[in-house]
Formats: sequence, structure tokens, C-alpha cells
Amino acid sequence: MAFLIRVALLAWIYQSVLSVVPLRSWEIQHNVRTKESSRAHIGSGFGLDARLVPLDFFVMSKCPYAIACEQRLNDVLALVGEHVRVTPHYIANIDGYPTTCKHGESECLGDRQQLCVLKYAKFHAFWKFLMCQDKNVTSIGEPDTAEACLMELDASASVVSLVKSCYSSDEGDNALRNSAHKTSQLGVRGSCTVWIRGREFPEDSSVEEYVSEICKPSGHVGSSSGCQLMR
Ligand SMILES: *[C@@H]1O[C@H](CO)[C@@H](O)[C@H](O)[C@H]1NC(C)=O
Repeated sequence: MAFLIRVALLAWIYQSVLSVVPLRSWEIQHNVRTKESSRAHIGSGFGLDARLVPLDFFVMSKCPYAIACEQRLNDVLALVGEHVRVTPHYIANIDGYPTTCKHGESECLGDRQQLCVLKYAKFHAFWKFLMCQDKNVTSIGEPDTAEACLMELDASASVVSLVKSCYSSDEGDNALRNSAHKTSQLGVRGSCTVWIRGREFPEDSSVEEYVSEICKPSGHVGSSSGCQLMR
């Protein structure tokens, strides 16, 4: 009960701040990124600020645990999204061609679609796309679902067309292979795995535990980034 009140209070404080401070990183991108800037964007989550706390999560797009984990992260980001730099990573088998995924071919497609949105749109748009796809695990990866979710982003026609051509081609497969390669290099196998500041964090922690981990002043992050909202 006390926890619920605290979350409600945090949400209220966050909403109040949100209504007065323009949050540039939450805007959806309407123009086309260059290759250079889209690469810089991957992993930059809610902003490029080096003081942001790195949060990496590793998933398979159709894994029920991943979906539960992403819902939890959604609640966390609603409270402290301004303080983290979120990077999604995918788990897939890239030993041969084609790439294979534990939950079938449609999971590889879903992974590609998510990575292609991340490549061409701002992180906030990626997150919105993810939440849209997660509404129905069965339909993740279906072209109709991807298109419907893309339409919800208010992205420009040029971004939509770049995203579609990305996930329908080798560009999307390469993005998945690169991501899955990095995941396996990092030795991560479980969906969902969460790292905060490069260290594994129990993914099933409560929203409150995530918030206190993200907001604790530590290491290179420095006390200045320690979630003014939380004090
Ligand atoms: C979820 O997606 C599947 C496959 O597209 C579809 O058959 C089903 O009706 C959808 N469920 C809901 C609740 O929309």
C-alpha cells in the first residue's frame, strides 16, 4: 500500500514537471537521419548526455518474459526516463543463414522491425512502437501489425518508408545479426536480461527498486544526475 502511494506520488511529481519542462528527447523524429547520426543514436535512448545512467535490456521480441519485462520498464521510464540511456539488444541464433529465432520466423521479423524503427526514429518512437506491438504477442512480426504500429508514431512518410525497406531487406537482417552478435559477445542468453550501469540487475525487481537503482548517485554518473525528481 505504502509502495502504491509512493509510485502514485512519483507519477504525480513527474507529470507536474513534464507539464512545465519541454522534453526534447521525447519528441518523435520527423526527418531522416544520416547513417552517422543513426549509429550515434543507437544506445542513446532518452538523450546523448553522458551523465545518463546506461540501461541495457536483452530480449526476444515474442518472448512472454520479454513483454512482461518491457511493461515493467515502461513504468520505470514513465518515472525516471529522463535519467536513463536505454539500449535494446536481441537474442537470436546467427550461427548460419538465415538467422533463426526461438519463437519462430515471425520473431526474427519482429526483432528486425523494432531495430529498424530504432535506427530511423527517435528512441521515444521506438518505445511507442514496442508498446504497440506488445499488445498482442501473437501478431508481433506480422507486416500488418508493424504497419499499424508505424502509423501510430506520426512519423513522416519518408521515415516510414525507410523503416519498411529496412525491415523487409538485408538491412534489417544485418541489424539483427549485429545486435545478436553483441548479445552473445556479452554472454547474455536469457530473455529478459537487464543491465544497469553495465551490471546485471534482477529484471523482475519492483518499479521502486529500479527507480532507486537508477537514481542512486554512483561512479562516473556523478551525483548531479541523481534524479532531482526523486529528492
Ligand atoms: C492477436 O493476433 C492474432 C494473430 O494476428 C489474431 O488472430 C488475434 O485475433 C489477435 N488477438 C487480439 C486480442 O487482437
